[in-house]
Formats: sequence, C-alpha cells, structure tokens
Amino acid sequence: MEKTVDTVSSVSISRRGREMQSSPIRKLAAIAEARKKKGIRIYHLNIGQPDLPSPSPVLEAVHSFSKKTIEYAPSNGLPEPLSAWKKYFAHFGIQFDESELIVTTGGSEAITLALCAVCDAGDEVLVFEPSYANYFGFAGIANVKPKAIPTTIENGFHLPSEDVIESYINEKTKAILYCSPSNPSGTIYSRDEIQRLVNVAMKHGLFILSDEAYREFAYESNALSIADFPEVRDRAIVLDSCSKKFNVCGVRIGVLASHNKDVVSTILKFCQARLSVATVEQLAMVPLLEDPDKYSNPIVEEFRKRRDLVCSELKEIPGVVSYKPEGAFYIVVGLPVKDTEHFARWLVEEFEYEKETIFMAPAQGFYVTPGKGTNEVRLAFMLKIEDLKRSMIILREALKAYNTASR
Ligand SMILES: Cc1ncc(COP(=O)(O)O)c(C=O)c1O
Repeated sequence: MEKTVDTVSSVSISRRGREMQSSPIRKLAAIAEARKKKGIRIYHLNIGQPDLPSPSPVLEAVHSFSKKTIEYAPSNGLPEPLSAWKKYFAHFGIQFDESELIVTTGGSEAITLALCAVCDAGDEVLVFEPSYANYFGFAGIANVKPKAIPTTIENGFHLPSEDVIESYINEKTKAILYCSPSNPSGTIYSRDEIQRLVNVAMKHGLFILSDEAYREFAYESNALSIADFPEVRDRAIVLDSCSKKFNVCGVRIGVLASHNKDVVSTILKFCQARLSVATVEQLAMVPLLEDPDKYSNPIVEEFRKRRDLVCSELKEIPGVVSYKPEGAFYIVVGLPVKDTEHFARWLVEEFEYEKETIFMAPAQGFYVTPGKGTNEVRLAFMLKIEDLKRSMIILREALKAYNTASR
C-alpha cells in the first residue's frame, strides 16, 4: 500500500548552489547556434578548446587497449602514468617523487581538491582578477571565498606590489591561487613577481596553489614553476593538466604535486572517496609525458604565430587597448564600447559583415568585483591564421557599425 503524508514541505537548493554562476562563456552559445542556422558564419574566439588534432599516440593507445576488463586504477594513479609525470616534471628541472604526485581528472579536479585540502568552509583564497572564471566555480564547490586582487590592462595584468597583495589578507585567508601563464590574460609572472607571492605566503602562513596548465605556452622566456622556489617547499602545490599542452582536453587528465606530505595524504583521502581516474586515458598520456617537447612544441609554435598575428592586427584597430601576452593562448582586450556584454551579444545576435560575425567572451565573467571588465573581452586564438585575420577585420567593422548606431 502506498504511504501518504499529511503535509508536504518544499525542497530548496543549497545557498552555494544558488550562488554558483553558470559559465559566462557559454551564455551566448545557444544564440550563436540559432544564428548559424540562419546561414551566418560565426568565428569562435570565445573558447579555450584547441582546434588542432590530438597527437596520434593517444588515439593509438585508446584503440589498442587490450585488457579484457577496464579496472579501477589506484586512487593516486596508475604506477606507469605516475612515473611518466615524474619524468615530465624532471624534464623542466622540477623534482617530484611518485609519492608526491596524484593523478586527477583534469587540472580542474586538482584545483578543487587542493582548495578542499587547505581551506575550511568560509575561508578565503586570494586570486588575481581578471581570473580564470572556473576558479570561482571551484571555490563555490569548496565553499571558499575568492578574494580578488585587481590587476590592470595598462601593465599587461602583471602583479601589484607586495604591500598591495598583503592588504587583501585577513584572518580567513588561507592560500594564493594563481596561474602563470595566465588564462584569461596570457600574462607570465616574472621571477620577481612570483617572489612577491612567496614572500607574502611565508610571512602570513599561506599555501600557494600554482596552476601551471599552460607551462609550455611561453613565447618570450620560460615560465617559472612555484617548485623553482625552495623556500615554499612546505606550502606549494603544483596543479597541472594535459589538456592544452597536448591538445587532449577530452581525456581529462591532470596532476597535483606537493612536497607537503599532509597535503598529499589529505588529498589522497578525497581521491579514495572518488575512487579513481579513467584508466585508459591515464595510460594513453604516458608516451606524451615521457617526451613532452615532441608533442607540445608544434602546438606551441602554432599558437605563437596566432598570438603575433592577433597582437599586430589589434594594434591597428582604432580605440582598442591591448598588450602582448607572454604566454597561453588568450588575450584580454579593451574595446571602445561601454558594455562588452551588450556588444558581444549584439555581435552574435544581430551583426553581420558579409554574412559573417564573431563570438567573443565578455570579460565581466573573469572578474569577481561587480562592474569591472565592462569594456573588456577575452579572445582565444583558437582559429587558423586566415580565420583569425578575417575575425580581426570583422571586429574592426563591427566596432565602426556599433559605435555609429549607438551615437
Ligand atoms: C588556467 C586553467 N587551469 C585549469 C584548467 C582546467 O583544465 P582541465 O580540467 O581541462 O585539465 C583550465 C582549462 O581551461 C585553465 O584554463
């Protein structure tokens, strides 16, 4: 017999669930799809999904997996991928033992677990804005508050002084989370800048979570790792990912590395709860991690050409404020419009130049502070050179049309 109840109480979503923002970049995607159906070609400058083919050993490894059962891997990772990650880091002069590494489901899981390991609910983590927008999402999952320290386009989004950084610290601050090379700005922090973070972390007892997912995308000089600063050996956590460097975003393989045994053993407990990372994909990364230059160099060189092209084209567009990003494959650009959310939507929804338009990410989504980034967009260099050239022509024409119409 069915049970009946006298009263029915409503259910409600958690506060952190309600407060979580949906992805700012994907907001316009549905509109873009509808527009394409009307015959308008859209150049996507909005996403960080590289357009190049994945290296063939990955595809071969997936096809040739020969075991009868795809078993769970150990929670910290399979032995072969762990020693491949050790080799990978050693290639950059960074020494980690296998016991100091944990294979994760992408860099995303590494960052989320690191936040969970070093912060309690309600604690604060320092980030630099504009910031990788998913940091806000990871912080939301971990119930941690991202505290934004501003950086500006005028100096290519480089870090402020130690004093300024310190002024954002309070009793709830537990860590600094940053990425260099940076998404969304492409900025690479110098030795002196990272030293500022190291000094502040030492003085105030903070962990440093260093997201090094774009390590290889360094066009002027090598990007430094936080592991290059021995004084923070006890408090540094390196977060890395195969997604971009090897053009394999869908394999979902990342890593977390730390010399701090408590950090590693704590994160391992979280990992035991989520059981393991995909077995076949972990193994498929081994040949790439063992010979990283072979697979990442061609990718990086292609993006260098794209960066150079976009930078020189942007300089020629009246009213545009830009700089030369030292790394990654993004740039945050200042545009001569009041509200880039409106402009980006107008581009996707209404504008066309010879039946073509562009899709850009409004930069507001990369800022914690309301009202910031309203005249900025992030461009990702995900298109072939000819398409990027065409996109820059469309941007120039669009700015002319938009500003004439709104005058
Ligand atoms: C700065 C940064 N960190 C981490 C990630 C996460 O990468 P994944 O989870 O694909 O390894 C990304 C992805 O775009 C990123 O841009």
